[in-house]
Amino acid sequence: MHCVHIVLYFVTIIFNQQLTIAQLRCRCLASNSSCWPNATVWQMFNESINGRLVIPEPSAAVCNERSYNSTACSITKAQWSNATWRSDQVGAMQNHNWENSSCSIFVNRSTCNQGSVPVLAVDAISPEHVKATVRFAATNNLRLVIKSTGHDYLGRSTAAGSLLLWLHHMKNMTLIEQYSSCDLTNISNAVCIEAGVQWSEVYRWLSKFNLVAIGAASGTVSAVGGYLEGGGHSPLSRWKGMAADQVLEYDVVTADGQRQTVNACQNGDLFWALNGGGGGTYAIVLSAVVRTFPSPSVVVATCSVSASNATSYAKLIESFVEFLPIVADAGWSAYFDITDLTLSVLFHVPNGDWAALNATLNQFVANNTDLHFNSTNSFAFPSFYYYFALVLEPNNPTGYDFLVSSRLIPESIIRSKPKQVAEVFIQAKGQRTTGSNLRGSLIAGGQVSNTTNRNNSINPGWRTALLRMACTQDWSDTTSKADQDYLAAQVLLRAAMLDAVLPAGSQPTCYANEAHPNEVNWQEKFYGSKVIYNQLKSIKEKYDPFGLFVCTNCVGSDDWTSDLNCPKTSNSVRFNLTIFLLLIEIFAILS
Ligand SMILES: Cc1cc2nc3c(=O)[nH]c(=O)nc-3n(C[C@H](O)[C@H](O)[C@H](O)COP(=O)(O)OP(=O)(O)OC[C@H]3O[C@@H](n4cnc5c(N)ncnc54)[C@H](O)[C@@H]3O)c2cc1C
Ligand SMILES: *[C@@H]1O[C@H](CO)[C@@H](O)[C@H](O)[C@H]1NC(C)=O
Ligand SMILES: *[C@@H]1O[C@H](CO)[C@@H](O)[C@H](O)[C@H]1NC(C)=O
Ligand SMILES: *[C@@H]1O[C@H](CO)[C@@H](O)[C@H](O)[C@H]1NC(C)=O
Ligand SMILES: *[C@@H]1O[C@H](CO)[C@@H](O)[C@H](O)[C@H]1NC(C)=O
Ligand SMILES: *[C@@H]1O[C@H](CO)[C@@H](O)[C@H](O)[C@H]1NC(C)=O
Ligand SMILES: *[C@@H]1O[C@H](CO)[C@@H](O)[C@H](O)[C@H]1NC(C)=O
Ligand SMILES: *[C@@H]1O[C@H](CO)[C@@H](O)[C@H](O)[C@H]1NC(C)=O
Ligand SMILES: *[C@@H]1O[C@H](CO)[C@@H](O)[C@H](O)[C@H]1NC(C)=O
Ligand SMILES: *[C@@H]1O[C@H](CO)[C@@H](O)[C@H](O)[C@H]1NC(C)=O
Ligand SMILES: *[C@@H]1O[C@H](CO)[C@@H](O)[C@H](O)[C@H]1NC(C)=O
Ligand SMILES: *[C@@H]1O[C@H](CO)[C@@H](O)[C@H](O)[C@H]1NC(C)=O
Ligand SMILES: *[C@@H]1O[C@H](CO)[C@@H](O)[C@H](O)[C@H]1NC(C)=O
Repeated sequence: MHCVHIVLYFVTIIFNQQLTIAQLRCRCLASNSSCWPNATVWQMFNESINGRLVIPEPSAAVCNERSYNSTACSITKAQWSNATWRSDQVGAMQNHNWENSSCSIFVNRSTCNQGSVPVLAVDAISPEHVKATVRFAATNNLRLVIKSTGHDYLGRSTAAGSLLLWLHHMKNMTLIEQYSSCDLTNISNAVCIEAGVQWSEVYRWLSKFNLVAIGAASGTVSAVGGYLEGGGHSPLSRWKGMAADQVLEYDVVTADGQRQTVNACQNGDLFWALNGGGGGTYAIVLSAVVRTFPSPSVVVATCSVSASNATSYAKLIESFVEFLPIVADAGWSAYFDITDLTLSVLFHVPNGDWAALNATLNQFVANNTDLHFNSTNSFAFPSFYYYFALVLEPNNPTGYDFLVSSRLIPESIIRSKPKQVAEVFIQAKGQRTTGSNLRGSLIAGGQVSNTTNRNNSINPGWRTALLRMACTQDWSDTTSKADQDYLAAQVLLRAAMLDAVLPAGSQPTCYANEAHPNEVNWQEKFYGSKVIYNQLKSIKEKYDPFGLFVCTNCVGSDDWTSDLNCPKTSNSVRFNLTIFLLLIEIFAILS
C-alpha cells in the first residue's frame, strides 16, 4: 500500500519537474546562437506569414554611423517629436529612453546599438499572421513582445533580443448599427475597432456619424490595445465612465494560438481580466467592440495664472483645490499643470452651458484678485471632434526621454482636506528648469464612480478618485547615467509625497498605464489589492500557463527574473524535491 503511494508520488513529482523544466526555461534570445532559429527557419516562417517579417531599427539609427542616411536622418530629426511618425516606425518607442539604445539624433555615435529594440518583427495585417507568430514564438521559446503604438510608459512594448508582433497596420473599423450580445439587449451603434487603430482615427471616423467613443486625450494612443486593457481614462470619462467600461466584446488570440471570442458569456473570466487588468498579459487583442454615444457639444476654458512668490502660489493652489469640487459637481473635466509658480488649466464640459462656464470661471478669478491671470479664454465647440482636433490633438509631442509616476486621489479627501491636498501638490510640483512637472487630470468621479453593471478589473482606486496626479520627468540623451538614476528616483519620491493625504494604513493606488517601473508594492498599487492581483494571476495562468506574454509589472511578471527572460522556478523545484525526500523518509519509517 505504502509502496504504491510512494511510486505514484514519485511519478507525479518527476512528471511535474519535467514539465516545469521543459516549459519554463529561460527565453531564447537573439544573442544566443545555440537556440536562436537559423536563417532557413526564419525564411520558412517569413513565407508562412506572406513575407511580413521585417527588421526593426532604433529610431535614431539612420543618424549614426551604423545606418547613416542623410535624407532619412533629416526626416528623423524633423519628425522626432511627431507621435504619429513615431508610431509608424517599427523600431520606435514614443519615449526614446525605452529603446535603450546608444543611438541618438543629437550626437553621431559610432557605437549605435540595438538596445531594447526587438531584432525581428512581424508586421501583421491579419489574424492568421498573429496566430502564426504566437505559435512560432511558443515553439521556439522566444521572447515575444506586442506593440501597437509604443506609447507605453513602462517600456512594456519592447525588449532586447525579442521578436515583436507589431499590430499597427491592422486598421479596420466597422459600425454595428444593432449589436446584440449574450447578456444585453440590443445596443445601437457599437463600433468594432482593430488593434492598430489609433484614437484620432476613431474620433475622425465616428464624427461622420455624429458619434463619439470614450478614448484617450492623445490621438496617437491605440484604441483597443494597452490603453483599453489598462482601463483608459478619457476627456469624456466623467461623462460616461472609463474606456474599459464600454467594451462589449473582444476577438483575441490566446497563448495556444487559438482565436477566441471573449464577452460576458464566453470566456467571462478573461473578459473580466482584459477590462482593466492590463495589456500584453492574457491574450492578444485583434479587435474590440465598444459602445458609442451621440457626440456632445463641448465648452472649453483655458487659464494660466502666475504668482509672484511662494506664499501667494500656495494660496492659489489651495483656492484651486477648493474650486475642483465646485466644477466637478457642474460636470466639468480638467487637465492642469502645477509647475514653478504657475498654474495652467484646460477645462471642458460636455454639453455644457457657455455662460455658466464663464460665470464660474470669472468668480474664481475674482476670488484671486491679487494674482496675475495672464489669460482666461473660453470657447464653444459644436461637437467633441472639433474640441479634439483643434485643442487636444495638436498638443501631443513625444520623443523625449521620460518617466512618470502617478497616484489616484480620492474624491472624499479632496472635499474634506483641500488644505492638505494643496500642500502635497506644492511639495510634489514641477520645476521647468529640471524638466519636471506635476500634471493633474480631473477625469475621475462622475460616471467613473458609477459601478452599476460594471463588473470588470479596473483598479478600484478609480471608482473613488476625483483626480489622477502624475509626477513627470524628462531629460535628454546627453544626461549622464548617474543623473538619470537620480531623476528616476526623484519621480518616485515626489509621487510618494502625495500619499501623505491618505488616511493612515490605506492603500495608495496608481494608474498602471501612467506609472513608474520601479514602484514598490506595484501589485497592490496598480491592480488595487493583493486579492484582485491574485484573481487576475489565476486567470493569467489559466489562459497563458507558460508565460508567453510577459511584461514589466504586468500580472504574473513576478514569477520572472527582472529582465523577464528566466522563470523563477529553481526555488519551487527544490522545495518539491525537499518535500519528496521528506515523504520518502516518512513512508520508509512507517513501513
Ligand atoms: C502622449 C501620451 C498620451 C497618453 N494619454 C492617455 C490618456 O489620455 N488616457 C489614458 O488612459 N492613457 C494615456 N496614455 C497612457 C496610455 O494608456 C499607455 O501608454 C498605454 O500603454 C498605451 O497603449 P498602446 O497600445 O497605445 O501602447 P503600446 O506601447 O503599443 O502597448 C502598451 C502595452 O499594451 C500591450 N498591447 C498593445 N496592444 C495590444 C493588443 N492588441 N493586445 C494585447 N496587448 C497589447 C503591449 O504589449 C504593452 O504591454 C498616454 C500615453 C502617452 C505616451
Ligand atoms: C543558450 O541556449 C541554450 C539552449 O537553449 C541554453 O542552454 C543556454 O543556457 C543559453 N545561453 C545563454 C547565455 O542564455
Ligand atoms: C536549421 O534549423 C533546422 C531546425 O533546427 C534544421 O533542421 C536545419 O538543418 C537547419 N539548417 C541549417 C542550414 O543549419
Ligand atoms: C520576408 O519576405 C519578404 C518577401 O519575400 C522580404 O521582402 C523580406 O525582406 C523578408 N524578411 C526578412 C527579415 O528577411
Ligand atoms: C535613405 O533614406 C531615404 C528616405 O527614407 C530612402 O528613400 C533611401 O532609399 C535611403 N537610401 C539608402 C541608401 O538606403
Ligand atoms: C507627423 O507624421 C505624420 C506621419 O508621418 C505625417 O503625416 C504628418 O504630416 C507629420 N506632422 C508634421 C507636423 O510634420
Ligand atoms: C474590414 O471590414 C470590412 C467591412 O466589415 C470587411 O469587408 C473587410 O474584409 C475587413 N478587412 C479586413 C482586412 O479585415
Ligand atoms: C507675495 O505676493 C503677494 C501678491 O502679489 C504680495 O501681496 C505679498 O506681499 C508677497 N509676499 C512676499 C513675502 O513677498
Ligand atoms: C469664491 O470664494 C468664496 C468665499 O471664499 C467661496 O465660497 C466660493 O466657493 C469661491 N468661488 C469659486 C468659484 O472659487
Ligand atoms: C505671464 O505673463 C508674464 C509677463 O508677460 C510672463 O513672463 C509669464 O511667462 C506668463 N506666464 C504664463 C504662465 O503664461
Ligand atoms: C464667454 O467668455 C468669452 C471670453 O473668454 C466670450 O468671448 C464669450 O462671448 C462668453 N460667452 C458667453 C455665452 O457669455
Ligand atoms: C449609473 O449607471 C447606470 C447604468 O449606466 C445608469 O442607469 C444610472 O443612471 C447611473 N447612475 C447615476 C447616479 O448616474
Ligand atoms: C511543485 O511543482 C509544481 C509543478 O512542477 C509547481 O506548480 C508547484 O508550485 C511546486 N510546488 C511548490 C510547493 O513549490
